[in-house]
Formats: sequence, structure tokens, C-alpha cells
Amino acid sequence: MQVSPSLLSADFANLTPDLEMINESECDLLHLDVMDGVFVPNISFGFPVMKAVAKICKKPLDVHLMIVEPQNWISQVRDLGAEYMVFHQEACTHIHRTVQAIHAAGMKAGVSLCPATPVSTLEDIITDLDQVLLMSVNPGFGGQPFIEGTVEKVRRLRNLIERTGSKALINVDGGVNASTGSLLAEAGADILVAGSYVFGAENPYEAIHSLKIL
Ligand code: DX5
Ligand code: ZN
Repeated sequence: MQVSPSLLSADFANLTPDLEMINESECDLLHLDVMDGVFVPNISFGFPVMKAVAKICKKPLDVHLMIVEPQNWISQVRDLGAEYMVFHQEACTHIHRTVQAIHAAGMKAGVSLCPATPVSTLEDIITDLDQVLLMSVNPGFGGQPFIEGTVEKVRRLRNLIERTGSKALINVDGGVNASTGSLLAEAGADILVAGSYVFGAENPYEAIHSLKIL
């Protein structure tokens, strides 16, 4: 399993030790949650903070944009050196155009679905995607309980990917811990995002390891 800890639950007044933990840990990616107070009812951090984080972080960045008009920010995300630029299906009218532009900028493209948005909305774009990020909580906050129906949603997405020959990886975000993570692994998830489970743990290396082995 690939593991993508979410910086949203780190200590914003002292990020360096948390980033050093990320660098030394077994995790595969660092998940960065950008919120605009419009698409979601919260504001997190923006490009000045992410630039500072990118200087220290040695893991590839998994940038999750919970913002309207994500197509306007492609060059700024590219300038961070991000591996994935992930935006919401619900926040973007021209998904195909945006995916092409992300690829032209040299990044991998991901589309995220809120809990009520069906997997079937991705039928006509799935073969162009590198990642689908299924939200297993309503986006906007860390520490919320896992929405159980996501497990079946992962199965439906796995079927769509297999049926179409897509190379997209299935990433799941929200309420992930070792027990929800094992259900998601069994259903076919490739990447797990975990915020409070990792940064709230007494031993974050062990929390990452417990997901890594799923
Ligand atoms: C929520 C964010 C998540 C969040 C997950 O909108 O997209 O990445 O950090 O937090 P946990 O793992 O605590 O549910
Ligand atoms: Zn996220």
C-alpha cells in the first residue's frame, strides 16, 4: 500500500520536525490539502506555506485542491514540483481540458469525488487519469469519521479501472486508520491518505507502517 500522510493534522506552528519525520518515514507521498473557504467551509494554507514545505520535504507531493476554478492554479502547483495535482470533479466544468493542461505542465493528474458524487461520472475521463481520490468524509476538515459506503465505492471504481484498462491509482482520503484502511485495501485501494491517524499518533512511524503493510 502507498501511504500519503496529510499535513493538515501537523503542527502548523512548528512544521520542520513533522516534515523530518515524513522524510525519514516509510511513507510514499505527502498530501497537501488546499482549501479556499468557497468550495469547502474552511481555509487551510496556500502557496507560500507549500513552497516552504516543498523545500524541506523529500517525498513527492500529492496536492489536493479543494478550491473553485482549480484550472487557474496549474503553473503554481507545477512550480512546487508536485507529483500529483488533484482537483474536484464538482469544482471544475472542463475536466478534460484541465487534465490535459496538468499533463502538459509535466504533472500527474487526479480527480477527486465528494462522498455523494458517483464513480460513473468518471467513465469518459478515467483513461486519462493518473489518480482518482475518493473522499471518505465530506471535504473540509481532518478528524471526521469514515463514511462506510466508500468501501463499495472503491470496488465500483476498481471495476471501472479494470474494464477500461485505465492506469489510474485509487486514493482514499478521510477517516483512514488501520481498520478502515484494511477494508479499503481489500476493496482495491492503491494509496491511503491519513491525517489525524498519523500526526495524532504517539508514534507516527508506527502509524505509517500499519498502513504500509496493508
Ligand atoms: C479533508 C482532507 C483530508 C484530511 C484527512 O478535507 O482532504 O486530507 O486531512 O484527515 P483525517 O485523516 O484526519 O480524516
Ligand atoms: Zn485531502
